[in-house]
Amino acid sequence: KELEMNLSELERGGYPHFMLKEIFEQPETLKNCMSGRINVEATNVTLSGIIDHKDKFIQAKRIIIVACGTSWHAGLIGKYLFEEFCRVPVEVEYASEFRYRHPVIHPEDIVIAISQSGETADSLAAIELARHAGAFVYGICNVVGSSIPRNTHSGSYTHCGHEIGVASTKAFTAQITVLTMMALAIGKEKGKISVEKYLAVIKELSHIPEKIERVLALNKSIKKLSRIFTYARNFIYLGRGYNYPIALEGALKLKEISYIHAEGYPAAEMKHGPIALIDNEMPVVAIATHNTVYEKVVSNIQEIKARNGRVIAIVTEGDKSVKSLVDHCIEIPSTEECLEPLLTSIPLQLIAYHIAVNKNRDVDMPRNLAKSVTVE
Ligand code: G6P
Repeated sequence: KELEMNLSELERGGYPHFMLKEIFEQPETLKNCMSGRINVEATNVTLSGIIDHKDKFIQAKRIIIVACGTSWHAGLIGKYLFEEFCRVPVEVEYASEFRYRHPVIHPEDIVIAISQSGETADSLAAIELARHAGAFVYGICNVVGSSIPRNTHSGSYTHCGHEIGVASTKAFTAQITVLTMMALAIGKEKGKISVEKYLAVIKELSHIPEKIERVLALNKSIKKLSRIFTYARNFIYLGRGYNYPIALEGALKLKEISYIHAEGYPAAEMKHGPIALIDNEMPVVAIATHNTVYEKVVSNIQEIKARNGRVIAIVTEGDKSVKSLVDHCIEIPSTEECLEPLLTSIPLQLIAYHIAVNKNRDVDMPRNLAKSVTVE
């Protein structure tokens, strides 16, 4: 028995939970994900799964992304990336809805399935449907040789290693990294991204692992902050643009492992209903990094403060305006706007983790959840 205990401790690499280990692995897993795809000079992206089918991607009239859970949130970021850099319309679908909806699928469509396990029943059924309709099907999966990669025309693995914690963390950031590399590669082939932007994003992407290290260095203060909010009954997460899907993912992480009710919302939608929930017992996590929607988010935060909401803001290092407005601030390094999700997701993973630990939850194996949902 004691030997067993020591073994599992060994597997956790000294961390109390797999989830924390996997959160801390992210600088390394993203390096692995980019390795051999981004050249050492950080001037070019090559994805073999795309090169082999270049014409398909150049000619595609539409991209449909199908996924479930956290992978669906990565898909939403994919939409922002593909629309910005490839100028192709993108739809993001819950696989479970897509498969039963008689969706319109054309042979010129590309269907991308995102799945950590590669075994999610609904995602598998969705690609089956897409293949029958004649679409080109691409997989973004982590588990090598799993069912989705075996049933797609092409794809890219996320290469982030075995993810054990039921709540997905490192697989999520690796999915976003693959989507970013895809958008850059396709955008370049199509001539829809400027050379300057292409080079700037690749360069920044190659620095993301170091910047994640800097966010992880805030773990102690995030742990302390989490103690204050452990007994909240509800939480709201807000973001806009590239950080809107991160707000959804932050709320999902908290729900999954702490069992606290949480909702993610696009910040500007608050006034259409949810702002009615705000009082001094409602913690609001707002992503307010320095980007094109910064001013907009600041005014959304003002609306919340005017109703006595308690705001924890994720801001860019050196920020002053938000800091003077909110209750707590977490400062992260600045980066290209499209890469911000890779940084903003980290403090939200840590907040969920520490709150769940404070509440004595089974972090790695939350109740009612499975790592991979292979039945309907
Ligand atoms: C389950 C897991 C989630 C995951 C979702 C999709 O619900 O608990 O963490 O995001 O399935 O899984 P997939 O393997 O397809 O990414």
